[in-house]
Amino acid sequence: MFKKDFPYFSNSDITYLDNGATTQKPKVVIDSQVEYYEKYCSNTHRSNFGHANTATQNFENARKTIKEFINASKNEEIIFTKGVTESINFIASSFAKKFKTVIISSLEHHSNIVPWHMQNRSLGNGLEVVKCNENLDFDMEHFEELLKTNPNSFVSVTHISNAFGKIHDITAITKLAHDYGAVVMIDGAQSLAHLKVDMQTFDCDFFAISGHKTFGPTGVGAIYVKEKYLNDLEPYQTGGATIHQVDFNSSTLLASPYKFEAGTQNIAGVIGFARALDYISHVGYNNIEIIEEELYKYLDHELSTIDGIIFYNDIHDSIGSRSFNIQGIAHDDIAILVDKMKIALRVGHHCAQPIMKQLGIKGTIRVSLAFYNDLNDINMFITALKKALSMLRD
Ligand code: ALA
Repeated sequence: MFKKDFPYFSNSDITYLDNGATTQKPKVVIDSQVEYYEKYCSNTHRSNFGHANTATQNFENARKTIKEFINASKNEEIIFTKGVTESINFIASSFAKKFKTVIISSLEHHSNIVPWHMQNRSLGNGLEVVKCNENLDFDMEHFEELLKTNPNSFVSVTHISNAFGKIHDITAITKLAHDYGAVVMIDGAQSLAHLKVDMQTFDCDFFAISGHKTFGPTGVGAIYVKEKYLNDLEPYQTGGATIHQVDFNSSTLLASPYKFEAGTQNIAGVIGFARALDYISHVGYNNIEIIEEELYKYLDHELSTIDGIIFYNDIHDSIGSRSFNIQGIAHDDIAILVDKMKIALRVGHHCAQPIMKQLGIKGTIRVSLAFYNDLNDINMFITALKKALSMLRD
């Protein structure tokens, strides 16, 4: 029903089920990129001619759109980055490095593990990992034990697992962490494409968001920083557009968010990101949730009928991605065969090697949905999967 809004689908006959990796872009987002480059391409916050002012105004309006979309309190709380990976690295090196202990979940993407290793943290040595049960549920009791033994720590957990679609109860995690004096960052890379996020309800201190996983351009994202932490946060890069005054001996920085946005920003990307959020508002999360729930249940049902299917979590408290293996079949073989049948999906460790190792597997086959998918996409995929299996089992 919504595919007509996305040029990719009229230009290709691919069944696109790799939305966890990146989403397709609606025409309004693509048009916003062309419009910027063709009609008013200029830098922001520097020059004062007409097009430069338009670029600055659209850039700052985008900040306001994002602030309102996630229900932050102030525009200054939204700092633009290249994406979630840069957002996490920024907070890790500019703020969280001061904390003795960082607590993460078992389901983290490498982008929320490797930055902590770069600080020479390892398991039990400045880095703690909350266990999950056999259904991949976050173990709140273990979390509380870790918070008790490591008071005033930094907690950094994903909202939705990119590999398994598991949703963490961010509000409960944040509340418990705050009770023990911890500061909380949430990796929201997979969130905005599927469900409403609200900074006042979540009450987390940092929330990382992605443009390209939210129907916007690649190379753009943002970090929400709760106002009370803006002063403690140090820029991790500086340069043009971040300063108040400079001489050869010293410099003074502008206020937030500008002191954190060094160099020319991804102006078209930021504008396109906001356009994507406007588009989501136009579709409505009520619709998105209804459509995705139907698709997710149908996918799960159809997969369940396949001989030898292995799931790692049930679909309760999960969204978007469904991960599985098939007994005796290498996931890479499935990927090669279904690709020939024009099915786009991802197989492998999904940048989450630690949880794969914990499960004793190399990776999974991951189908990741967006609201523009339909039952026909799932039927095409299931037919291709069955065909691939019959070839491999022959
Ligand atoms: N993090 C992206 C994924 O899950 C690339 O595929």
